[in-house]
Amino acid sequence: MKIGLLTGGGDAPGLNAVIRTAVLSAMNRGWEVVGIRHGFAGLLGEPDIMPMNRSTVSGIAHLGGTILRTTNRGNPLCFPVRGEDGTVVEKDCSDELIENVKKLGIDALIAIGGDGTLGIALQLVRRGLKIVGVPKTIDNDVSGTVSTFGFDTAVNTAIEALDKLHTTAESHDRVIVMEVMGRNAGFIALHAGLAATADVILIPEIPYDIDKVCEKILARDKAGHNFSIVVAAEGAYSKTEALGHSTHTMQHRAIRAGSVAEQLVNDIQQGTGKECRLLVLGHLQRGGMPTGYDRLLAARFGAAAVTAIQNERWGEMVALQSPHLVTIPIEDVIREEKRVDPSHDVVMAARMTGISLGD
Ligand code: F6P
Repeated sequence: MKIGLLTGGGDAPGLNAVIRTAVLSAMNRGWEVVGIRHGFAGLLGEPDIMPMNRSTVSGIAHLGGTILRTTNRGNPLCFPVRGEDGTVVEKDCSDELIENVKKLGIDALIAIGGDGTLGIALQLVRRGLKIVGVPKTIDNDVSGTVSTFGFDTAVNTAIEALDKLHTTAESHDRVIVMEVMGRNAGFIALHAGLAATADVILIPEIPYDIDKVCEKILARDKAGHNFSIVVAAEGAYSKTEALGHSTHTMQHRAIRAGSVAEQLVNDIQQGTGKECRLLVLGHLQRGGMPTGYDRLLAARFGAAAVTAIQNERWGEMVALQSPHLVTIPIEDVIREEKRVDPSHDVVMAARMTGISLGD
C-alpha cells in the first residue's frame, strides 16, 4: 500500500501534527507514504512530491505551518493555464492529475483541508481516485465536526491580543475595534470575545445596528467605564448593508481584510465622539505553535484518516462528534458551511454577561 498526503487551502496550526501522526500510523502498518507539496496543484505537471519517513516527521508536531506547503489557489478542476495568445483560461486538469497519481503508484490519498480542498477531493473521488479527508481551518466553519484543528489556536491568539488591547484602551479612554478572521463565520470573534470579555462582539450571523453599538459604548461611559473593546468578525455586516439582499448573498460575499474594522471605527467615532483605534489581527491568527487542544485533535484526525483508508471510506471525512471520532460523507459536509447558531449557549452567555451583539 502506498498513500499520498497533501495539505490544501490556508494553513492552520496543527497541520504538521496531522502529517506526523498519519505518516507514523501508516508506516506502522507497513505502508509507504509520500507527501505531495502545494496541495492538489502538486500533482499537476512534474509532480511535486517528497518521500515521507520517520525522520521527515520527527520533531514537527508542535510547529505551525505545514512541511508540505499549501495553497488556496491551484484548484485542478479549474486550473489557470496560459494560452498561446498569452491569455489565462481555467482548465479542468483532473485527467492529468489522475494520470500522475497512477504513475506515482499511489493507491489512496489523504487530503487535509477546508471546504475548498474537501470539495475538490470529492470531485476526484467521483472520477475514480481513492481519497479520505481531514477537516482543517481556523474558521471552524466545516459542518459535521464539533471543531477543526487550528481554531483553538486562533482563538487563543485573539484572546491574547484582546487582553493587551484592554490595558491600552483603558489607559486612553478609547474604543478599540479588533477585526478577526473567520470568512463568513463568526466563531473566532464570538469565542475570543466572550473569553476575553469584550464589550461588543459583531458576527455575520447577527447583523448589527450601529446605533445599538454606539449606545452600548456610551452606556459604559456613563457607568464610568470610559473605554470599550469591540471584536468584529471580518465577515460582519450591518442591518443597513443587508437591506435588499438575502442572508445567503450576505453570508457568501467576498471579504476584504480590514474593511469591517475601518467602517466601524469611522461609524463609532461619529456616533459617540470618542477616540477610536483599530487592529486587524490578520494572519497572526494562522501562525505559531498549535495549542494542546489542537495538537491532540490533529493527532487523532491523522490516525483516524489512516484507519479510514484501511476501511476504504472513500469520499468521507474524519470528524469529531464528541467524544468520538467518526467518518462522514464529504458530500454532506460541503452542502452547507457551518455557522454560529444565534441561539447557541455561547451567544446566550455573552448576552447574559452584558456583552452587546449589536442587535
Ligand atoms: O479560511 C482561512 C482564512 O484565514 C480566513 O479566515 C481568511 O478570510 C482567509 O483565509 C485569508 O486568506 P489569505 O491567506 O488568502 O489572505
